[in-house]
Amino acid sequence: MDLKAALKGKLSEKQLAILNKSFDSVGQVAIIEIPEELQKKKKLIAETLLKQNKQFKTIAEKVSGAGGKYRIKKLKVIIGSKSLTAEYRESGCSFKVSLGKVYFSPRFGTERLRLAKLVQPKENVGVFFAGCGPYCIVIMKHSKATSCVGFEWNPVAVKDFEENIRKNKMQTQVQAVKGDVKKTAEKFKGKFDRIIMPSPSNAIEYFKTALQCCKKNAVIHYYCFSETSGPFKKRLEEVKKIARENGKSLKLLDSKVVRPYSKEICQIVLDLRVK
Ligand SMILES: C[S@@+](CC[C@H](N)C(=O)[O-])C[C@H]1O[C@@H](n2cnc3c(N)ncnc32)[C@H](O)[C@@H]1O
Repeated sequence: MDLKAALKGKLSEKQLAILNKSFDSVGQVAIIEIPEELQKKKKLIAETLLKQNKQFKTIAEKVSGAGGKYRIKKLKVIIGSKSLTAEYRESGCSFKVSLGKVYFSPRFGTERLRLAKLVQPKENVGVFFAGCGPYCIVIMKHSKATSCVGFEWNPVAVKDFEENIRKNKMQTQVQAVKGDVKKTAEKFKGKFDRIIMPSPSNAIEYFKTALQCCKKNAVIHYYCFSETSGPFKKRLEEVKKIARENGKSLKLLDSKVVRPYSKEICQIVLDLRVK
């Protein structure tokens, strides 16, 4: 039974109509969005969700979308254990995630696997904006890459990332580099066969740095927001311009909408070969 069906008779028809029945589940933590009009009913909603899903220990409310320097979503526990440290599994890998202190979304699991399948044997992969390490770890697990270096400046995310490297026994292949990638990537000029840039709000500012870290014929997976009405052309021109200014050219290998963000805006990825 879904959440709406379970709340029939306990909420009015009007309240049921605005109830968001989908929620994110990160290990033992469920994250729900409660509209303003249902704030007084949030305990009832959380209790119902908890009763229906025995695997959860905590039901938390998403108080804000991803924001600030570390792109953190603010969360507030409604019921259950006060701990927002989740133990999460994805694609055969395990993760510790300090929810509320670190950016994390389980919604990109399919995208992480897609990337892992594109990685060729012996590649050295770089992940700018690594968070607690999900891209590096899933890629290392499902490809024959030689190494994966993740760059991240949120100290809590780096701590989780380091723990996740140990948890998944990848100490010899995966490295977490702490600090601003614009500075820390200096040591990795010309080192990567593939660079992943999963920070759609600011990846453009780091595209030049990514180009500098590419080996000959490397691939960049560039994530950004765009207009739903015509998502690819303008964004492709922007990165092509940066490439030209830096004496390189780009060949578009693939492009896709990763997820809708709002009615007018979506998140896209451009897979680009650097020449
Ligand atoms: C949208 S989150 C993605 C995190 C991770 N890739 C994931 O999907 O779980 C972007 C991440 O990039 C980090 N970040 C943003 N700018 C950065 C910079 N200049 N240097 C290092 N990390 C940065 C943020 O702290 C945040 O953790």
